[in-house]
Amino acid sequence: MPIDFNQETKEFHLHNEFLSCLIKVLDDGSIGQVYCGAPLMPSRSYPFLSLLASHASFRRDRTLIPFEYPSGARGDYRVCAFAVQEADGSMAMDPVYHSHVIYEGKPLIPRLPSLYAEQDYEAQTLELKLFDAVSGLSLILYYTIYAGAPVIARHSRFINAGEKPLVLRKAMSLSLDLPDDNWQLMSVTGAWAHEFQLIEERISAGFQGIRSNRGNSGHQQNPFLILKRPFTSEFLGEALGVSLLYSGNFAIAVENYRSPRVQIGINDETFSWKLEEGASFDTPEALLVYTKSGGINGISQAFHAVYQEKLVRKTWRHKERPVLLNNWEGTYFNFTEEKLLAMASVAKELGIELFVLDDGWFGQRDSDDSSLGDWFVDTRKLPSGIAGLAKKITAMGLQFGLWIEPEMISRKSRLFETHPDWAVGVPGRSRTEQRNQYVLDMSRQEIVDYMVTVIANLISSAPISYIKWDMNRSITEPFSIALPPDRQGEFFHRYILGVYELYDRLTTLFPDVLFESCAGGGGRFDAGMLAFAPQAWLSDNTDALERLRIQSVASLVYPQSSWGSHVSAVPNHQTGRSTSLNFRAMVAFFGNLGFELDPTTLSPEEKKQVAACIEFYKAHRKTFQYGQFFRLSVANPSLYAAWQVSSEEETLVGFYKLLAQANCPPVRLRLTNLNGSYLYDVSIWEQGGFEAQDKTFNCGSRGGDELMSGGLLLDTTSVTKQGDFFGEIFIIKR
Ligand code: GLA
Repeated sequence: MPIDFNQETKEFHLHNEFLSCLIKVLDDGSIGQVYCGAPLMPSRSYPFLSLLASHASFRRDRTLIPFEYPSGARGDYRVCAFAVQEADGSMAMDPVYHSHVIYEGKPLIPRLPSLYAEQDYEAQTLELKLFDAVSGLSLILYYTIYAGAPVIARHSRFINAGEKPLVLRKAMSLSLDLPDDNWQLMSVTGAWAHEFQLIEERISAGFQGIRSNRGNSGHQQNPFLILKRPFTSEFLGEALGVSLLYSGNFAIAVENYRSPRVQIGINDETFSWKLEEGASFDTPEALLVYTKSGGINGISQAFHAVYQEKLVRKTWRHKERPVLLNNWEGTYFNFTEEKLLAMASVAKELGIELFVLDDGWFGQRDSDDSSLGDWFVDTRKLPSGIAGLAKKITAMGLQFGLWIEPEMISRKSRLFETHPDWAVGVPGRSRTEQRNQYVLDMSRQEIVDYMVTVIANLISSAPISYIKWDMNRSITEPFSIALPPDRQGEFFHRYILGVYELYDRLTTLFPDVLFESCAGGGGRFDAGMLAFAPQAWLSDNTDALERLRIQSVASLVYPQSSWGSHVSAVPNHQTGRSTSLNFRAMVAFFGNLGFELDPTTLSPEEKKQVAACIEFYKAHRKTFQYGQFFRLSVANPSLYAAWQVSSEEETLVGFYKLLAQANCPPVRLRLTNLNGSYLYDVSIWEQGGFEAQDKTFNCGSRGGDELMSGGLLLDTTSVTKQGDFFGEIFIIKR
């Protein structure tokens, strides 16, 4: 049993071959956290593991006791996991152990994205019920441990079983008291077209953290945190990670006054929730993953596997994603049906499978200042409508996809003329426009219902097999005219619940349509969205060099099947940089390949190259999209980068030379995840960029041991002449 309960010591032990977490009911009924880390033997007791066992003066010092889900009420003084206000205004409750159940399988969380278990044997769940006798609040702490995976899923449910209303002021999803503060924190910051900038810092004394308060998880931060020991590297050492399945305002807090505490959950700064008698509230789900010795890679593998296998909608979990052409950077708002058909026709010739019509097809949208909400076709541009265009494109043998931004409304739109009160804002105050648009109040049921009808009609009206769902601004003046004053604190969470409902209803109606989420690129790139849209537009930045970093850092937590990666024109529209077509393709291969340019402008030679890239990608698509993804270590990351993907059939390695240096010594690139005793056949993609290099070098029959310990030898000297930005793809088959 992966979850044991020791009746005598009142210890719960969640364990598998990768990790152990010990939780204990203390004498006063509070729930103590004994241990979380490398696996311990089951059926033993561990009385000396935590500070709980130390000297009596420490035991009485509640500022040091590790608590499982601490309330701030009774002398803990560290950052609390939850706060509930009673009808008299007090905030002193501290529910204590009441009962527990342990069962096979995993429950889903109502209205929120959560991991699933298809068979009971895949996971075991502990429901630990706490109760506050004065107020009647029941608090259920949920823990699910997966068999064969270093993952624990956590969330909490608050139930008001009393007779007076309560107000939740804070309700985090996971709280973890670390045994010591010798950890480094890895998280990200960023901005539009500048997502996934890595931050690494030590745990310091006091308070550290990140939070979003925009209504979406944000370009500026991402709802995960990795903790590693100072000596932990990519492939070695202890690390743990927390990640939140949530797309709204979140917070991650790290507080350290002698004993560090880490928390992840809804950002309480922009949250409160009224719990009427009998009502309940579920927090979003948080994951904890752990590796004793596998390094950062161990954390990434754990997140990738669980998000790929237990979160993504089943129809799309393993389905190969089409190679697409998106017209955005090719035409922006300026297109006609004739132009699109010309682009689609070349796309088909090149081997592209899906044509995506981006922004600008509806209302009178010639720029970003109008028409959001008017989801009917602009016949000036598309005289035969979406249905007519889609039919012509599908008749060419391509699939057809469409861009929408269903949560938004333009001031210049028919929808706004009819329903000015549907836009988020405070009556009597002006609304702030961002990208010339307002946000629809998705916390209102009638607006969600309306959008379900409009978008469902749109999708049914034409052969549409892909939807790109954008969200191009964050929320300002957060307020809903449909909520009473004492419930305005619920607005942000209700907004995201409305978005999830819209996604849920549309993906249920159209299970075979591939939904791609987007928020001005990666403004809502999170695990919550992944539950509905199996892939997302990671960044509006399509520059290959920038993408090497963005995709590498995103892969800390998210699998490459979760992002779209497009080859765009040069000079690149975001950076002005020019790189070769092959280099751009070799970066975009690692993910869901697309093109975002006007293919009618390609020269015959470029067309040949693109067609060869697509042919190569398709031949290895399963590995590129679903293989295990590794960031390979290179001696000098400012000059080189390397990725590896491995499936059962093959291993593919991308090596990238970023900047040329004169008289540079050869680089050794050690591979990973091969079997040392096997022989592999190594070959090079003939279209790769190291033209000066002999295509037989490194190739032929090579031992897995040799490739992992000695590695490939990249003779970058011979390619120095070629300047910056060259790559090579190695194909390694057993
Ligand atoms: C956002 C997206 C882009 C494109 C534009 C259209 O910026 O990230 O890919 O769809 O909107 O307006």
